Amino acid sequence: MRRYLVAGNWKLNLGPAAGLVLASGVRDRLASLDSLASAEPGCDVLVCPPYVTIPAVREVADGHPLLLGAQTCADHESGAFTGEISAAMLAEVGCSHVIVGHSERRQYQRESDDQFVRKIDLAHAAGLTAIFCYGELLDERQAGRAETVVRDQITGVLPRLASVTAENTLLAYEPVWAIGTGETATPEIAQAMHAHSRTVVGELLGGELAADIRILYGGSCKPTNARELFALPDVDGGLIGGASLDAESFVGIVEAAVALV
Ligand code: 13P
Repeated sequence: MRRYLVAGNWKLNLGPAAGLVLASGVRDRLASLDSLASAEPGCDVLVCPPYVTIPAVREVADGHPLLLGAQTCADHESGAFTGEISAAMLAEVGCSHVIVGHSERRQYQRESDDQFVRKIDLAHAAGLTAIFCYGELLDERQAGRAETVVRDQITGVLPRLASVTAENTLLAYEPVWAIGTGETATPEIAQAMHAHSRTVVGELLGGELAADIRILYGGSCKPTNARELFALPDVDGGLIGGASLDAESFVGIVEAAVALV
């Protein structure tokens, strides 16, 4: 049985002071969801603040069912790489997860498959779970190429990793046309693309991993559409941008997952 994960990607928002306020609000609202405190919660909750906000969030998350992650990591272990933060450093400050391959990093930092492979391998070596993001652009969908693009993005990274398990790796299908646009993938599109992703993983790495690996949906997910997306057979939760910046709406999305457990 795959467990849900609802993950907030705060992107370039909230320094330590504001992050502490939001994380406290999330923590307090989660406390009213009894099932999250059970031994088998059925839903994990994660927030991924900016690097400098991580220690403040850790202070309020410690001892609560609120996991901590980062939005990227260096593709080197250490050395003369000005401005970079390593996966091992993230583990040291209490992160359990790191996002890799987000479309904004692909677009603005021109990150490549080779870098994603190195980042995920280093994340795994540091004991982190990687959340590998992929998804097609609007013109690729309009040209009928969405499946091919997603196949290529998965094929360019997953089989090259030193190890991939359902514990150390999650996938996040984030159609770029749905990110921050208010336009969500229809349930038909989301289910088709998640099922397709699972098929590709099965072809590359075997049916067992394909059945067990968790695939999140990302792109204008909100409390009002989360339930119908999470109810789809191949959707295992969400990677939430804008709606994760408000405690009530983020926990509203968590509630949608909890209601389906
Ligand atoms: P929005 O939820 O703001 O569309 O962002 C999705 C996303 O990019 C999460 O990583």
